[in-house]
Amino acid sequence: MALIVVSNREPYAPRSRDDGGLDWVPSIGGLTAALDPALQHTGGTWIAWGEAHPDVREVQLPQDNPRYRLQRLRLSEAEVRDFYHGFSNRALWPMSHYFIERTRYDVVAWQTYVTVNRRFAEAAVAAYRNGDTIWVHDYQLALVPRMIREMLPDAPIGFFWHIPWPSTEVFRTLPWDRELLDGMLGADLIGMHTTDYVRYFQAACRRALDADTDEGVVHWQGRTSRVVARPIGIEVDVFEDLASRPDVEDEADRIRRTLQTLILLGVDRLDYTKGIPERLEAFDAYLDRHPDARGRITLIQIAVPSREQVDSYRQLRARVEGLVGRINGKHTHSGWSPIQYIYRGVSREELVAHYRAADVMLVTPLRDGLNLVAKEFTACSRDGALILSRFAGAADEMKEAVQVNPYSPGGLAEALQMALNMPLEEKKARLQRLRSRLHASDLRTWAEDFVKEIADQ
Ligand code: ADP
Ligand code: G6P
Repeated sequence: MALIVVSNREPYAPRSRDDGGLDWVPSIGGLTAALDPALQHTGGTWIAWGEAHPDVREVQLPQDNPRYRLQRLRLSEAEVRDFYHGFSNRALWPMSHYFIERTRYDVVAWQTYVTVNRRFAEAAVAAYRNGDTIWVHDYQLALVPRMIREMLPDAPIGFFWHIPWPSTEVFRTLPWDRELLDGMLGADLIGMHTTDYVRYFQAACRRALDADTDEGVVHWQGRTSRVVARPIGIEVDVFEDLASRPDVEDEADRIRRTLQTLILLGVDRLDYTKGIPERLEAFDAYLDRHPDARGRITLIQIAVPSREQVDSYRQLRARVEGLVGRINGKHTHSGWSPIQYIYRGVSREELVAHYRAADVMLVTPLRDGLNLVAKEFTACSRDGALILSRFAGAADEMKEAVQVNPYSPGGLAEALQMALNMPLEEKKARLQRLRSRLHASDLRTWAEDFVKEIADQ
């Protein structure tokens, strides 16, 4: 029995070396960060879009210690534009994150979404052998479970929706609401991060499809799908090991020595859902209100470029860069600047060194399916404080974080004041309680249990 994972984003992307060979570099984002270790553990096949070097159709990964096979689909330029940038990231992503004003519901984009979903489904069916389990992922591929079901009526199929499931009135703005739900309900088991998302999903099934629902199930056209809240975890051991490595510790010390101030940290894909401008503005307001903090605090914002073909993302980049310039211009004096802005992906080691160096971690999305950064920081921190938006799915499990409403003008600055003044003992106690829960829901257990649950349906 093997596992077949199907997702749009591939876990590693090929990059050309000077000698003509290829290096396979980890992709950045919650889905691949979570599933790569899971598939490394179980082995099997991962089917995904091969963005760079599309001629490479298959590769064993990870490169230095192969554990599974990546099968890469080639998408045409028009498919990338209409399926990925278009329907996935201009319709489903903003709608699911409550940004209706940013949605573009375009018929051609929808039709391409259907066509490309079919290509993924056909690839999964071709890879499938009796006894295998198929696990499809995320909003880019919501129709795939139904399409596979039509070709393989008895295959065990699971689906995980990694982003928020919005309340029904928002979901109903999607002109293809019925088709999307019907696509997902081809799966035996549908997973989401929180019980609220599950509730809203079931409400959408009742409202849009007139389907029957019971506790944790949806009945639709003679079949029953289970719908469960299974918040994803992180590889706690891997992060803890990295955090205790002397070279990482040295790097954390170097960051602190260089700045000689308290450190606030933000780590995000550059996405308008992450609340980065709001965070920068709150820090600016904090500095206005607390002149004594000038020269004593630095905000390090690490932002990795994302989906740059989509206008909302380009506008966000310009806005963030403008804000960093304006705030630094306003407050910088005698060698101190309030914001250090790093616009790139950083290595795991560098990331963990920053988590270790930080006094306060700012995870303040306006809306987020879960948010892994909050969990990674918790695993790695020396004795820092975590500020966490109430609109991140992770807030349900992380009650000991300082929770904030990122829409509240004074809220973030107040939370910052509280986190900066929190006694050491309290910070340690909060971290300890958060950590014990991280261990209880480790990534490996999450993935293994989900795969077992699919097969048990
Ligand atoms: P999303 O799924 O929306 O990208 P998550 O917080 O759930 O958000 O996951 C993001 C993942 O990407 C985390 O594992 C995080 O460590 C990683 N990441 C985010 N920004 C960077 C960056 N600038 N450099 C390296 N890794 C990053
Ligand atoms: C989020 C989504 C994933 C996606 C990731 C990175 O985590 O849930 O499906 O892979 O963002 O975005 P990208 O568009 O680069 O794949």
